[in-house]
Amino acid sequence: MVPWLDLTRQYQQLRGELTRTLDDLMSRSSFILGPYVDTFEADFARFVGSKHCIGLNSGTSALHLALLACGVERGDEVITTPATWISTCWAISYVGAKPVFVDIDPQTCGLDADRVEHAITSRTRAILPVHLYGQAADIAGLCSVAVRHDLPLIEDACQAHAATFAGKHLGTFGAAGCFSFYPGKNLGAFGEAGALVTDDDAIARRVRQLRDHAQAARHHHVEIGYNMRMEGVQGAVLGVKLPHLGAWTERRRAIGARYDAAFGDLSQFRLMREPRGVRFNRHIYPLCCDNRESLRDELTRRDVQTAVHYPTPVHLQPAYQYLGHRPGDFPHAEKLCATQVTLPMFPELSDAEVTQTIDAVRAWAKLHDRAAA
Ligand SMILES: Cc1ncc(COP(=O)(O)O)c(C=O)c1O
Repeated sequence: MVPWLDLTRQYQQLRGELTRTLDDLMSRSSFILGPYVDTFEADFARFVGSKHCIGLNSGTSALHLALLACGVERGDEVITTPATWISTCWAISYVGAKPVFVDIDPQTCGLDADRVEHAITSRTRAILPVHLYGQAADIAGLCSVAVRHDLPLIEDACQAHAATFAGKHLGTFGAAGCFSFYPGKNLGAFGEAGALVTDDDAIARRVRQLRDHAQAARHHHVEIGYNMRMEGVQGAVLGVKLPHLGAWTERRRAIGARYDAAFGDLSQFRLMREPRGVRFNRHIYPLCCDNRESLRDELTRRDVQTAVHYPTPVHLQPAYQYLGHRPGDFPHAEKLCATQVTLPMFPELSDAEVTQTIDAVRAWAKLHDRAAA
């Protein structure tokens, strides 16, 4: 079976260094924050080109604290995309604000900047785009809308490690960038972890306090705080893995290029093309296909695992029923969710497995062509 993702291969590759590092961490008992987290924060900030990096317990927490630090409050509106992992919207709900959905641009799978501008009201307090699949939303367009309306841009870069636009890392364009290090991400921890990056000293200071029970000094809590600190183990593991992220990204991009070349002539699929100036990180390789279930069945028959990211757009989830949306409100996002299928994509995937995946997809396309004839 060609796995959709196999994390054990990466572990085997780094086992010696990870074991030595974790042994050292346990000998020092630096389980929460501590020197390994400090080092990772400095290294990740340098990697993405940001002034500050604050290590947290998840990407969801990064989004939550970013909104708090940007002053978003109960009753405010935050413009975001319905085509995302639901955490993007949880964070908006956690601060008591209302998610205002805007449809995506089907070329980028991210927020459409023109539609965002039309959705701005006097209650809008932030714009929260998502770089879905590690592709870039229209970051130049979104930055100019944010500047024009004096609104903070908070980037959900939870899938976008090492992806860039015009040579600059996604996650560093707005007031704050939010990263997840969930194990399956391009840079994955050994459990839950995330980080917020920012160039803004005030945001960094507030997030550092909020993550640690809002302590301005030991046992001095200046507001209602949270326990959202990064664990030492996660800082240590991420520190071992970060130097490999560049090479891993190149390998993902090479696999993505093979898929692109192999499927470019097939009329049954819509591929995601890299816009000028953008470098995808190939977190996920999405293929859009009107007959998704038939394709998935054929791939399973041919021993290739697939997944779907994500089957239901957020505006149609029961949790957000109170907003009163209906099918058809955001057609591009709905179409993406109805047609998207995700192929195996991780750096340790062998060339033979990529070939097997390509052959399986092409075999389905040939069958499908015949069925149509
Ligand atoms: C787009 C997006 N936003 C937010 C998150 C939340 O990150 P975490 O799972 O680390 O809380 C994720 C990760 O699953 C994600 O993919």
